[in-house]
Amino acid sequence: MSITHFPGGASSSPLASPLTKVTMPTLSEMKRQGKPISALTAYDYGTSRLLDEAGIDLVLVGDSLAMVVLGHENTLAVTVDEMLHHTRAVRRGVRRALVVADMPFGSYHGTVAEGVANAVRFVKEAGAEAVKIEGPRIELVLALTEAEIPVVGHLGLTPQSVNRMGGYRVQARSVETVRQLKADALALAQAGAGALVLEGIPREVAAGITAELPIPTIGIGAGPDCDGQILVFHDLVNLTFTPPAKFVRRYGDAAALFRTAVEHYREDVEHRAFPSDEESYHLPDEVRKSLKPGRNTLTKVGVIQKA
Ligand code: KIV
Repeated sequence: MSITHFPGGASSSPLASPLTKVTMPTLSEMKRQGKPISALTAYDYGTSRLLDEAGIDLVLVGDSLAMVVLGHENTLAVTVDEMLHHTRAVRRGVRRALVVADMPFGSYHGTVAEGVANAVRFVKEAGAEAVKIEGPRIELVLALTEAEIPVVGHLGLTPQSVNRMGGYRVQARSVETVRQLKADALALAQAGAGALVLEGIPREVAAGITAELPIPTIGIGAGPDCDGQILVFHDLVNLTFTPPAKFVRRYGDAAALFRTAVEHYREDVEHRAFPSDEESYHLPDEVRKSLKPGRNTLTKVGVIQKA
């Protein structure tokens, strides 16, 4: 597969094809043409490479890393340095998809200048092509846009607000909160956000925002009417060790696959069935012959004593 490094590929249209690099303008063009955007999270080289080769349009290094990779209870504990470390790995695995890095909790909640400085690190030190921030942080989105850093907004159920929300609850279920969410979405788009993740909101609300907004929406637990969909990779393949949320569809059972493989390996080791002779290295014939008992004695691998 060859990838052109000219924005939008060799053709004048930025619409994603298997051969062209996905950029922020590609996502807008996909919305315009009604082509659904596929997105998944990834946190390492191998997974991100598989997603990219499978044609996923957007790879998000989500702060869900904190939970599914690092084993924290929620997303709040993950640090900028940890997110940078994993974003670098993902960047190395991806050639076509748009790589978006999640700004972790605390990295953009102080001054706008601190938020911009942290976002610059994701672009400069880790190769992110956009950053995602939760909530209607309009001043910050304006400043990031001014600083040439593409922004993906994130509204609705924003996991970094878990303590304020009192748990992970579906948002925007009253007239007032629906109106507020719509206003926030519009304000983010006007401030320069290039796409918007809508999480944990009623389908009807997501559909209304998607129809009204000039930028693409990417839903998770927001129904099928968004311009694209995103899931946490570990949810998709059953690697989360918890019952899935209502909106998760399991497309594979990696836990069963890995568990069976590891159990078979352990049994084979315990029964000396692994490795076999075919899976072992051997001395060349002439060396083996010259080491016959009486001439030389092989006492341990690599150490030959004269008899
Ligand atoms: O961190 C994450 O995985 C996310 C997606 C679920 C949107 O923010």
